[in-house]
Order: sequence, then C-alpha cells, then structure tokens
Amino acid sequence: MNEVPLREKSIVLIGFMGVGKTSIGRAVARRLYRDFVDIDEVIEQEYGMPTSDIFQTIGEEAFREKEKETIIDYCKQKLKIISVGGGAFLQEEIRDTCLSECIVFFLDLSWEHWQERISLLIDSRPVLQGKNIDEIKELFHKRQPIYEKHHSKVETDNLIIDEVAEFITDSLKTAWDIYEPN
Ligand code: S3P
Repeated sequence: MNEVPLREKSIVLIGFMGVGKTSIGRAVARRLYRDFVDIDEVIEQEYGMPTSDIFQTIGEEAFREKEKETIIDYCKQKLKIISVGGGAFLQEEIRDTCLSECIVFFLDLSWEHWQERISLLIDSRPVLQGKNIDEIKELFHKRQPIYEKHHSKVETDNLIIDEVAEFITDSLKTAWDIYEPN
C-alpha cells in the first residue's frame, strides 16, 4: 500500500475521559474542513444506547473489542479527525495502529484541573462509577503513561477549546510545511 501523504493522514486525539477530546476534535475538524468522528458515538449509535448501558448489557470486554474494530477501521481512512475513548490506548493493537496510520495528539490536563469536572462526568462514564475520589485519582495517574505514546502533546490547563484547536492546527501546518513542502 502506498504511504498516505502527511497532509492527508487522519488525526487522533487521546487523553483521559473528560479532557475535551470531543469538543476539541470538532473545533479542529471545523478549522481543517474535515469530518469529525467520535468513536464512542459511533459505537453508541450502532447499539442504540449510551456507553454505560453498553457496559451493562454486553460487558466491558465486548465493548473493548468493538472499540478496537471501530478505531482500526477509521484509522485506515484518510482526512478524518478522530476522538477515541480514554481507555482505548490500553490496547496495544489500537496504539500501534493509531501511531502508524495517523498523527496522534495527547490532550494533557492536570489532575488539579480535571477533578473540577468530575460531577459533569460521573453519570455517563461507567469506568468512574462506584469509585471514590482516591480511586479515581489513582486511575487517572495510572493511565497517564499509556498516553505518553503520541506524536505531539498539548498541555490544556487554562486553555479554552479554540486555543487548543488553534495549537493543533498550527503545529500540523508547520509539520506539513517542513516535511511536505509543495
Ligand atoms: C472510557 C472512556 C470513555 C468511553 C468508555 C470507557 C475509559 O470515553 O470510551 O466510557 O475507559 O476511559 P471518553 O474518554 O470519551 O470519556
């Protein structure tokens, strides 16, 4: 298969739940005139229910399998902006595919800022349910190393959605100009 030009590679956004992957992904897609794909939304539409119900009905393992198939399928497409769930990079096959086929941005929000959002997230995120704040903090820190496999990182504390989107599009344009000058 011919290598996809850098300018056409899809962009993948990773990071812990609730760091803003979906809102930022939409803003990046708007700026680059590309389609935005939220993997959780694709899976939810397919099953006709929210993620928390999917976890309850088919179980986490089956959700993870579906998540893997869906991500790999979209990563093979060009010119997409893809937001993947916070647990996706736990799977080696997903990590490897995203990193080899796409450009991966890690949205890095500190625990101090993240914890202010807990109440907005807890009901819709099955992985957080039944956990106390210390357990959530432990999960947050345990997950950080898996996001360290990326092409670029954006520290998002104190940045609004449009500022993060601008950082991402500016760094992409710089990379395109350096590595693929017209
Ligand atoms: C999960 C994150 C969620 C969703 C599912 C599991 C996780 O996505 O995929 O609830 O294990 O971190 P967001 O990161 O978009 O919240």
